[in-house]
Amino acid sequence: MVAVTPETGTSGGVDGGSADLGAQLRADFDAAVAAEERVEPRDWMPEEYRASLVRQMAQHAHSEIIGMQPEANWITRAPSLRRKAILMAKVQDEAGHGLYLYSAAETLGTSRDELLDKLHSGKQKYSSIFNYPTLTWADVGAIGWLVDGAAITNQVPICRCSYGPYARAMVRICKEESFHQRQGYELLLALSQGTEAQHAMAQDAVNRWWWPSLMMFGPPDDESVHSAQAMAWRIKRHSNDELRQRFVDIAVPQAESLGLTLPDPDIRWNEERGHHDFGAIDWAEFWDVLKGNGPCNEQRINQRRKAHEEGAWVREAATAYARKHTGTGREVQA
Ligand code: 3HC
Repeated sequence: MVAVTPETGTSGGVDGGSADLGAQLRADFDAAVAAEERVEPRDWMPEEYRASLVRQMAQHAHSEIIGMQPEANWITRAPSLRRKAILMAKVQDEAGHGLYLYSAAETLGTSRDELLDKLHSGKQKYSSIFNYPTLTWADVGAIGWLVDGAAITNQVPICRCSYGPYARAMVRICKEESFHQRQGYELLLALSQGTEAQHAMAQDAVNRWWWPSLMMFGPPDDESVHSAQAMAWRIKRHSNDELRQRFVDIAVPQAESLGLTLPDPDIRWNEERGHHDFGAIDWAEFWDVLKGNGPCNEQRINQRRKAHEEGAWVREAATAYARKHTGTGREVQA
């Protein structure tokens, strides 16, 4: 991979260089990516590659921090101290994931402030899934099992993303998500094997979270505008439909073990394809949620803006502390 030097210039353009040099840099970049070399922040990269990563990583980071809201809703009402401790740890993990991802995005020359502004002003998205409400305690289990399960299916391949800082952040995130998924499964199992009312509550949660979980993987391949290029750049490793199918194949036997039914009468094993067939997804609902019309879009973004405003004093104090600390450091060095 070619490092950025005064000769090669900054990414996207070749300062003072010839068109030939630009073409050569791009050819070297494409060859390195095709050879599975990692791209690092110091390396030359096409501006579109940088922009595509910022878009995806920002959306991912925003999803992590907005995703804290639906579950945090249940911390005060967790049915036992054990469940409360688990849920608090999980919600904190999601905040940590957001921070790893914002930090990884900063290595591309963007700032966290800039990304948060874009989230708050609606210029950048977060995952559709977090615009649905958590109506009962069983929703905490369904989110763990289905939402975190879908997230892992989508995110494990990102550990092999061509951009080093994103790939490395994903290794730890996936390990933690794996715990999240298991705690959700265990919670649902306890409810499913509990009283009739508890079983019904678990089934109702699965009924409501199943279809939105399938939508998390993004639009069908023929409507996915970014997939082809993202796959050529090895940012994405599999298409949206491939990952969705993988998730369905994993979820069907798990639902059976849980004693719960997936709310899709069309699910059946297809011997020829070696996969489960499943019913049609309501894409009109998906696009509507993306436009801001989901059940909780307004609530989520208002809560996020409020949390940001209320955290202003923490950011100011941290900045003042850092300034003081750096000043002391300089004095000591001097
Ligand atoms: N929610 C919101 N927007 C979505 C979406 C979803 N579920 N799926 C797709 N979109 C958006 C895309 O961002 C794109 O819009 P844009 O051009 O304004 O950015 C548009 O729909 C077209 O979709 P594409 O298929 O062309 O987009 P991508 O190639 O980027 O694929 C993706 C979408 C599969 C979500 C991909 O971006 C991805 O893998 N992202 C990384 C993982 C991620 O962001 N996960 C969030 C899940 S939740 C989470 O991680 C929290 C955990 O705690 C559960």
